[in-house]
Amino acid sequence: MSQEPKAIYLKDYKVPAYLFESTDLRFELFEDEALVHAELVITRNPACTASAPALELHGHESVELVSLSLDGRALTDNDYVREGEMLTIATPPERFCLTSTTRIHPESNTALEGLYKSGGMFCTQCEAEGFRRITFFPDRPDVMSVFRTTVEADKTRYPELLSNGNPVARGLADNNRHWVTWEDPFPKPAYLFALVAGDLQHIEDRFVTMSGRNVTLKIFAEEKDLDKLDYAMTSLKNAMKWDEETYGREYDLDIYMIVAVDFFNMGAMENKGLNIFNTSCVLANAATTTDSGFQRVEAVVAHEYFHNWSGNRVTCRDWFQLSLKEGFTVFRDAEFSADMNSRTVKRVEDVSLLRTAQFAEDAGPMAHPIRPESFIEISNFYTLTIYEKGAEVVRMVRTLLGEALFRKGSDLYFERHDGQAVTTEDFILAMEDASGQDLSQFRAWYHQAGTPELHVSDQFDAAAGEYKLTVKQSCPPSPGQEKKSAFHIPLAMGLLNEKGEEVELPNGETTQILNVTEFEQTFIFSGLSTKPVPSLLRGFSAPVKLFYPYQRDELMFLMAHDSDGFCRWDAAQKLAVDIMQALIADYHPDKAMVLDGRLVSAFRSVLDAEGLDKAMVSKVLTLPSEAYLSELSDCVDVDAIDAVRKFVRHSIAVQLEDRLRAVYQENDLDIAYSPDADSVARRSLKNLCLSYLMSLETEASLQLAKAQYEKADNMTDMQVALVLVAHSSFRSDAKALLADFYQRWSGESLVVNLWLSIQASDPNEGALSRVLELMQHPAFDGKNPNKLRSVISVFCAQNSTHFHALDGSGYRFLADRIIELNSQNPQIAARMLTPLTRWKKFSAARQALMKAELERIRESGDLSKDVFEVVSKSLV
Ligand code: ARG
Ligand code: ZN
Repeated sequence: MSQEPKAIYLKDYKVPAYLFESTDLRFELFEDEALVHAELVITRNPACTASAPALELHGHESVELVSLSLDGRALTDNDYVREGEMLTIATPPERFCLTSTTRIHPESNTALEGLYKSGGMFCTQCEAEGFRRITFFPDRPDVMSVFRTTVEADKTRYPELLSNGNPVARGLADNNRHWVTWEDPFPKPAYLFALVAGDLQHIEDRFVTMSGRNVTLKIFAEEKDLDKLDYAMTSLKNAMKWDEETYGREYDLDIYMIVAVDFFNMGAMENKGLNIFNTSCVLANAATTTDSGFQRVEAVVAHEYFHNWSGNRVTCRDWFQLSLKEGFTVFRDAEFSADMNSRTVKRVEDVSLLRTAQFAEDAGPMAHPIRPESFIEISNFYTLTIYEKGAEVVRMVRTLLGEALFRKGSDLYFERHDGQAVTTEDFILAMEDASGQDLSQFRAWYHQAGTPELHVSDQFDAAAGEYKLTVKQSCPPSPGQEKKSAFHIPLAMGLLNEKGEEVELPNGETTQILNVTEFEQTFIFSGLSTKPVPSLLRGFSAPVKLFYPYQRDELMFLMAHDSDGFCRWDAAQKLAVDIMQALIADYHPDKAMVLDGRLVSAFRSVLDAEGLDKAMVSKVLTLPSEAYLSELSDCVDVDAIDAVRKFVRHSIAVQLEDRLRAVYQENDLDIAYSPDADSVARRSLKNLCLSYLMSLETEASLQLAKAQYEKADNMTDMQVALVLVAHSSFRSDAKALLADFYQRWSGESLVVNLWLSIQASDPNEGALSRVLELMQHPAFDGKNPNKLRSVISVFCAQNSTHFHALDGSGYRFLADRIIELNSQNPQIAARMLTPLTRWKKFSAARQALMKAELERIRESGDLSKDVFEVVSKSLV
């Protein structure tokens, strides 16, 4: 960048001046270049009021314009202006045909945006603004066109040629080449365009839609991965059925394709009829995939499928509306996963992610509302806020409307806006119109950033039998937003009497939604003989931080009696957090720590209780993560958090050793692997027990872990055993097991990623030098985002004491990587920068070191828009 990149603003939105009736593309793919021939039929947009508007097309600087003509007349430099990312034709006719040929270089495209090569195959990633790296086109989501695409390539290297829609023609060409033409009848924005050419194998199935149409389903991968596609196929069919039953949404083309690619910046992409997936989100089998890997495949396959309606049929007007499709689609996939597996467990997992990572983002320098007002680089806004908080906002709409009216609202939204590019406001309007409810105040969730805080206090008047809950809300400032208006917060709650029974509330039920709309509000409950214990924020009914001065005994009481599964888990978390925070505050390396015995007895009763859901037992017994404890700290004390977690884990293991061993044995069954919810639950409980036992660092637990590793018939058990040994102080066993694992799995790229991560997160001495060594290993590939994440991101996020080393070596390491990656892959570089952006959360000494590295990146030369935005906003 020679000039400083400029922000673009939502308030500057203008309707497009031209509509694109049809887009005809022909790709000639070669080893050293690709030629793209485009034929565009263009007309004036009647909705645009400008008198003689110019035609504006996007085109990345890397695109070479070979030829351009208008209605058959070749254009010269005098007929158009090419400046930055825009090509402008001053006064074109009302209706015309524009043809162009561009030359691009997929073979050297390391940014993985636009058309690029993943291993031996060609593939695309066009969201958000990758299409401008292919040809000249209005690369904005409100310009929708019908695409016809011909792909031509060498027949031997690229037997499979795919694009959106249905294949309509194919043939042979000279020089051992062949071609296929695809037609997609649904008008779509350019970001949903896709092309794949490669030597691929596939599995095939079929789905009969609710109106009786036959859909062919194909999932493509390299031949070696053919044995890892069945789970994705099952997930796809489940998702198709679920969307028909839950939202009345039917699939609309005759064919649905998914392609697995090794090199991919994100998880997956919902291109119309041709999803492209990171292998990590589609390949799965028992031998190579962990339980959480299976769950990710199920969720991501569903997510991309659900986009066919929430994203493709109804798309975004501009990128400020990104959460319109992403928040809604995450909400949809979360409900799907909840229905397929355990609802409470899914909720606990999602809330944990939100409370650690999204809350941290909301409190950091990149904080933004789910509908931002401005951005420099849209790729930086594919965030936990847009996705996960966006999903929470949709969930709150459903809570406020109730299930039936929410469905009425979504029906209206899809019907009213089918084929359109719309805004979050249109979504809310449909919900209001269908329900008759007023969501005016609720809209603040879309334009105010930051995590609201609820401070709840109570009062009991025994004589009157009256219980008063006072709720105060506030929201800390975020960039550009000093003062916030009051949010409309649905606060789900219940009351428990002294026997632990649910009290009947004014609505006649045991759970009620309080509409918190003011900065301070009091809710009165009458007819109570004793002071109840409140159960607050049931099901995590709003993405807020809730403070209520629970006594530790009250938390144990809630753990035992609350009818809300989420709140039972949360009570256990709060108890552990309260105890650990006290230890952290009091931490000194020379001072002995003492654990409040109540945590152990609470954990013991959970282990002993009959008939509890094993998945929930293992969630309850999992200590709050380092990341969560850090998020809760005003100033993160890395060493104290690490020491306290180790101490608490060890103390629990010492005191519950026999029970842990017994539960381990009970759940160590010799039955064939299955990724169903019950089996996943059993393995997670078993492996949690093993991890407590390993914290004892005894020879007996080492033998247990090694035995599990040896006999494992699945990657879940094998990986846990390997992590525990690899991170233990038994260094020679660690070395031997890691070597064995690599030898077994060196041919499986995704398993090798696990192997890399396990080493990058090893907290033993010498972590950084091990990481530097790993980066020299033949299994590492600095151009592959999955490898970069497995080593660099894992080290920075999961090896805190070393990343935050007081000599600054961890920070320097990350900054060096960012400077290298800035030109190679800006999206990944900007994303990996996140840990440094949180510098204000640390001690003065660490702050200075982190800030110095951010400054070094800023001064390092030509920054991409991506890195520039994150660095400059972090240094404000
Ligand atoms: N729309 C994709 C999804 O389903 C995300 C793609 C974003 N990719 C990117 N390079 N920004 O979530
Ligand atoms: Zn998505």
